[in-house]
Amino acid sequence: MPRLLIVSNRLPVSVRVERGALALTRSSGGLAAAMRGPHERFDALWVGWPGNVANFTPEQRQEVESALARMRAVPVHVGAAEQHRFYDGFSNGVLWPLFHYLLDKVNVDAQLDWEAYRSVNERFAEAVAARYTPGDAIWVHDYQLMLLPALLRARFPAARIGFFLHVPFPSSEVFRILPWREHILRGLLGADVVGFHTAAYRRNFASSVARVLELDLDPEEETIEHEGRRIALGVHPISIDTAEIARLASLPSVQEEAARIRADARGRKIVLGIDRLDYTKGIPRRLLAIERLLEREPEMREKLRFIQLAVPSREKASAYAECQRLVHEMVGRTNGRYGTPHVMPIHYIHRSLPMEQVVALYVAADAMLVTPLRDGMNLVAKEYVAARTGDDGVLILSEFAGAAAELSEAISVNPYDIDAVASAVKHAVTMPANEQKVRMAALRRRVAAHDVHVWAQSFLDDLDRAAARKPAEASEPRRPDVPPSVLERVQHAPRRVWILDYDGTLVPFASMPELAAPDDELLSLLGVLSERDRVHVVSGRLRADLERWFGALPLDLHAEHGFWSRSRGSREWIPLEPGAAAWKGEIRAVLEDITRRTPGSFVEEKAVSLAWHYRRADAELAGEHARELRARVAERLPMDALEILGGAKVLEIRPRGVHKGRVVPGILADAPANAAVIAIGDDRTDEDIFAALPPSAHTIHVGTQTSRAAYRLPDPRAVRRLLRSIHA
Ligand code: G6P
Repeated sequence: MPRLLIVSNRLPVSVRVERGALALTRSSGGLAAAMRGPHERFDALWVGWPGNVANFTPEQRQEVESALARMRAVPVHVGAAEQHRFYDGFSNGVLWPLFHYLLDKVNVDAQLDWEAYRSVNERFAEAVAARYTPGDAIWVHDYQLMLLPALLRARFPAARIGFFLHVPFPSSEVFRILPWREHILRGLLGADVVGFHTAAYRRNFASSVARVLELDLDPEEETIEHEGRRIALGVHPISIDTAEIARLASLPSVQEEAARIRADARGRKIVLGIDRLDYTKGIPRRLLAIERLLEREPEMREKLRFIQLAVPSREKASAYAECQRLVHEMVGRTNGRYGTPHVMPIHYIHRSLPMEQVVALYVAADAMLVTPLRDGMNLVAKEYVAARTGDDGVLILSEFAGAAAELSEAISVNPYDIDAVASAVKHAVTMPANEQKVRMAALRRRVAAHDVHVWAQSFLDDLDRAAARKPAEASEPRRPDVPPSVLERVQHAPRRVWILDYDGTLVPFASMPELAAPDDELLSLLGVLSERDRVHVVSGRLRADLERWFGALPLDLHAEHGFWSRSRGSREWIPLEPGAAAWKGEIRAVLEDITRRTPGSFVEEKAVSLAWHYRRADAELAGEHARELRARVAERLPMDALEILGGAKVLEIRPRGVHKGRVVPGILADAPANAAVIAIGDDRTDEDIFAALPPSAHTIHVGTQTSRAAYRLPDPRAVRRLLRSIHA
């Protein structure tokens, strides 16, 4: 039976030894809360860290194993020192603050922490591999395990792998700071589906991938092509078990507890905050806002009770200890200033409470203050809404929480604006009942319709769809590098004909095309090759370039995608089709206009075509303008006469029917009957060559795009190795 494997850093329970006995505690945080339901419903296996068991006796460890096994939990044990670097150092010392835009909290020198992050991700890969059977779906969670999808993909090319990010994905301007940005992105792209809470996070991810890896999002499919696979990017706002919260809220014991909390407040309005004690949650600024309100409006001192529940979290990290110190000091200060012998304005609880008690607080509170500086989603906001079964109560919500994208009927605040938050609290506690009802009823409908079950199911449906859409080649082992048997056949062929693309095949891409001149090694390699073999270079470049570079060698040259050819030993360039390029004037004006608006791009003029290059331009802007260019060209000229060809970061407009494939019949007609024909190319334009060749030819794609070529090589260096090996 195929199963679901859930993988997250932390298991839903953490183990401890308390007075000699084993104690299991519920893990806090949104992820654990959200995945508990799917773990049960899908009868899934959950792989994760159970807490530090280094000091446990062998018997206690045995007890842990069996307790976890009963809960379908698979522990991944990590030594304390490595765990500290992985968890406090990298996950929470680098990724967490960076992804929440708190750059001053990012660890300055984290190389060793990064290495631990890598090796712990490896450890997780091994643990998953030990449990995986073909057909299982693997669902990896959150920023602690961003390398895991690719590590699993390397082991199981055909596996269904999903990844969900529970925190924000920051703007590419912030993400790019990370020295290990490429590894992280490639790690994530090992998945079939990468899911985010909001469309903004997905956009940020796509633009990071475009900038850092130069891979573009297919805007229609919302997928990225990478290593011959399509990776879907999904938006799946996480949610809560709405019915369960409503059920808890209606329990008599919870109702009684809520009544007690209200009675204690003696007529004061109760404003509630519940958070893990984390510097991203904005607790100090929230306390300042409360203080500001009491200071500004003395009558509020008699009317307000603020209850803050702060659940201890990551206490070993200094930034958390510092945040805790600050919060405690501020609570003390405000209570010192505005407390009386009878009442304290701030009621502060610093520990974890059972869920019933948490729900009783939701039921008792007239208003809920959720004011994180940044938050991936924030499920406390949704829980409060779900608990308000009478459609009263007011939610104040930070515009920087992912939940703000959905919960638009809340009072929206900028958590950095202390005065505005103070005013929002006043607005909330004085809001007329009918307005409360209109807002809360709308919020409740939304949270009821999009609960955690809908969320999990929609993510898993996406994963199934993505797996079904995989091209056949992806479910087979990846297309091979050139196998030794083929190499031998080529080596022993009596004659050989090579058809070689230039940029991206014989030389790597350069930021300026002028810099991609052949180096001495390449020239001598081609020199040796052409002594015995017929060598055709088929390029999109201008005649003058090819002539300057290769004119002295006995090569056959084909410029401008085969529009011009010059055969070995001759100095004359022959056009494929004589004919003027009358269309160019008007199109050149369009290209120049677009170039002006796309810094870093430029126009290249060739005999029969115009090319717009945008490798050095901003990827998103260039993508938009490439679409505009296509539309404007199509508007002006009959497209049966012209075509637009997309290459690697270049769009070329040329008369229809001129393409590299057109030179193939001439090359074959000229080739000895017993020759082995080998064609090598890297981009879309080379596919025309492959298509025009008979099946007996050996076709090789350079890179990781989908290609009709039979084999592939990773890069120009590998191409050169192959060419060298033929005459070795
Ligand atoms: C957030 C993160 C989770 C994390 C949770 C608790 O919700 O997205 O990945 O598990 O906080 O934090 P902790 O560090 O205690 O696991």
